[in-house]
Amino acid sequence: IALPSHPPALYPSFLAVAPKDILPDLKYPEGFLFGVASAAYQVEGAVMEEGKGPSVWDWASRQPGAVTDNTTADVVDLHYFLYKEDVARIAALGVNSHSFSVSWARIFPFGAADSPVNQQGLDHYADGNSFTIIVHWDTPLALAAYYGGFTSPKFTLVIRTLLSLTKLKLGDRYTFNEPQVYCAQVGSFPFNLSFAPGINEQNAQFQCSYNLLKAHAGAVKAFREMGITGEIAFKSADYIGMPWRANNTEDMEAVERNAAFNIGVFADPILKDTLPPDVLPRLTEQESKEILDAYRTYWNAAPPEGIDACVNNTSDPLWPGCFLELMNDFNTGWSSGPASDPLTPWLQATPQFLRPSFKRLHERWPTSKIYLSEFGFTQPFEGVRNPQVLFQLTEDPERTNYYMTYLGELLLSIHEDGIPVQGAFCWAIMDNAEWNSGLSARFGIQYVNYSSPTLERSYKRSAFALGEFTDVLNPTY
Ligand code: NOJ
Repeated sequence: IALPSHPPALYPSFLAVAPKDILPDLKYPEGFLFGVASAAYQVEGAVMEEGKGPSVWDWASRQPGAVTDNTTADVVDLHYFLYKEDVARIAALGVNSHSFSVSWARIFPFGAADSPVNQQGLDHYADGNSFTIIVHWDTPLALAAYYGGFTSPKFTLVIRTLLSLTKLKLGDRYTFNEPQVYCAQVGSFPFNLSFAPGINEQNAQFQCSYNLLKAHAGAVKAFREMGITGEIAFKSADYIGMPWRANNTEDMEAVERNAAFNIGVFADPILKDTLPPDVLPRLTEQESKEILDAYRTYWNAAPPEGIDACVNNTSDPLWPGCFLELMNDFNTGWSSGPASDPLTPWLQATPQFLRPSFKRLHERWPTSKIYLSEFGFTQPFEGVRNPQVLFQLTEDPERTNYYMTYLGELLLSIHEDGIPVQGAFCWAIMDNAEWNSGLSARFGIQYVNYSSPTLERSYKRSAFALGEFTDVLNPTY
């Protein structure tokens, strides 16, 4: 199929004006959470400290070729020991929340719920976070090795137990991090060394999705039974697509299929009591009830982050009109420099799709609250660091532009479109271990000097820009 030209960019490549000049009167709504995000495996390091057991990613990152730059996250940002300083650095910018995950392998080093709890690991998380992700992708290796990970009934039990163990100190929480991504990858490891843990079964993706849904239901039920105040949801990946050709029926259908398979598999049972029509196998009535009854809250939209994946999908007859995946430079090789395709330049982001994405999401799954649970920008190298000044500053105009334009659109979503967005979390608090891209993909709003013995952090320009956004738009911060 011949593709029409790329949708026009609505923004100049670098936004020269401050948000306050463009959006003078728009404020975040009352109680809005404006925060940064990160996750245990990606920043903590200290992988063998204080009783932690190995996670599937500690193992995977040791397999030659599994991580592009062959780095492990054994040390990475050493956030496990430096977290107080890290939180202070972020608070200084004026953001009011931090989304983080607990490392399950620190709490249950041996994986299963009936295995010993590591008290040191548990105590470590006692300070709490605004939003806590209970299960990110770094699940205990023992659970995968001995029990089959997400294909095991032990799995549902562990998440319930984890929830109860962490009940007092932590804030609102997500049960699972981007289950779509996790389950899509689960079948492919270690055969293409892509993502851990791999299970060599044809139906692993379905089994994984099914088990995650049941585990989510169990976890929410436990959460309510324990009388924990707070909100609970799963953290969805951002597979809201946009039709390549506006008002084209085939493209619209492709968008719908994409939404059904990538988001609906999780969101429909939770919010609508059923699976999307094309998805098999069906849930039994009892299973549907368990899932629905247990769930009484919002769900979260992760970010539309930039460039489209359309060109890669045209050979698939199921996706005739193609769809936009809205990520930033995943598809053009985020560690390999500018794309050769002039229509998808490496640094392009697509803030113009944020509002329509929120609208579509809200129409299809109306909820009382939506959190933009991650949004962020990566590039393989950062601009000039200035050695003349006392504290070093990384100039990152593209990321700065990305955040300013996305936040501008986010405010318009709230004020012009009436979408109940209640929070936004910038990914990430600092450069970190980006799973199978290792240290080569830098998402941070702070630069980390991995050659320095102190793992020195320094703000990038975008961090100050975000700080300005908090001041200008909500003087109460
Ligand atoms: C999604 C994941 O939650 C996070 O771990 C990852 O680093 C970012 N998005 C960027 O890929």
